[in-house]
Amino acid sequence: MGSSKTVLITGGNKGIGFETARQLGKLGFTILIGSRDASRGQEATAKLMTEKIDAKAITLDVTNLDSIQSAVKQIDEQYGSLDVLINNAGISLDGGVSPSQLELINLKRTYETNVFGMFSVTKAMLPLIKKSPAGRIVNLSSGLASLTLNSDPESEFYGLNLLAYMSSKTAVNALTVLFSKELSTTSIKINSADPGFTSTDLNGHSGYRSVEQGASIVVKLATLANDGPTGGFFDENGVVPW
Ligand SMILES: NC(=O)c1ccc[n+]([C@@H]2O[C@H](COP(=O)([O-])OP(=O)(O)OC[C@H]3O[C@@H](n4cnc5c(N)ncnc54)[C@H](OP(=O)(O)O)[C@@H]3O)[C@@H](O)[C@H]2O)c1
Repeated sequence: MGSSKTVLITGGNKGIGFETARQLGKLGFTILIGSRDASRGQEATAKLMTEKIDAKAITLDVTNLDSIQSAVKQIDEQYGSLDVLINNAGISLDGGVSPSQLELINLKRTYETNVFGMFSVTKAMLPLIKKSPAGRIVNLSSGLASLTLNSDPESEFYGLNLLAYMSSKTAVNALTVLFSKELSTTSIKINSADPGFTSTDLNGHSGYRSVEQGASIVVKLATLANDGPTGGFFDENGVVPW
């Protein structure tokens, strides 16, 4: 068992997750890249290792309980605990349709990954995180989760009305708040991060922020000091309204 802190990043093989891995790797973390596809995970860790980052791929499909359990077993056997969990894996399936045109199956599939997957990984990893002296959990939410912003005609993304993706991220925020209440007597901090509109495959690279910018709030919440917040929702400028 090494002395550096361990971080598991779900969907860490590309996009904001991969950049988060790079930034935390540079800070000295041991990086566990959760990737649903083993070869994509290996490629990602190979890239990180060229930057002298200590990285390892773990096959992890957040919608598959066997895959989650086998990831728990591997981390337990090799490290005995987990310092940071970044629930980053996410999908968007709305295809631009308005709520009444959304197919139920796409709503269900979105929740399978963004909500039920996040719940299952968090639940399964918690015993390992509790063994860390200062566990941190970061849930990738979005400004599009905010019911306050979604009801404000002046907000930047008021024109977007993607029921599956947006409501799944609202549910992510609920997970953050409710888990934080349960964990309030522990040293674990759990927060939601809004990376902003970031250029990745998720949005066909239409985002205007770089992955470096998007990952910065995630890294900040992953490395919170012991007096840092828990149960909150933050972007790089501070608190985001629920
Ligand atoms: N980009 C933005 O503007 C933006 C804004 C707000 C929030 N976010 C959130 O940020 C997070 C990262 O998104 P991104 O923009 O970096 O998108 P991305 O480049 O498409 O990356 C998404 C990652 O999630 C993985 N993934 C999807 N389903 C999975 C599953 N069932 N099990 C494990 N991994 C799975 C993908 O794996 P594969 O490579 O195998 O597909 C990929 O590694 C998401 O939660 C997203 O909702 C993004």
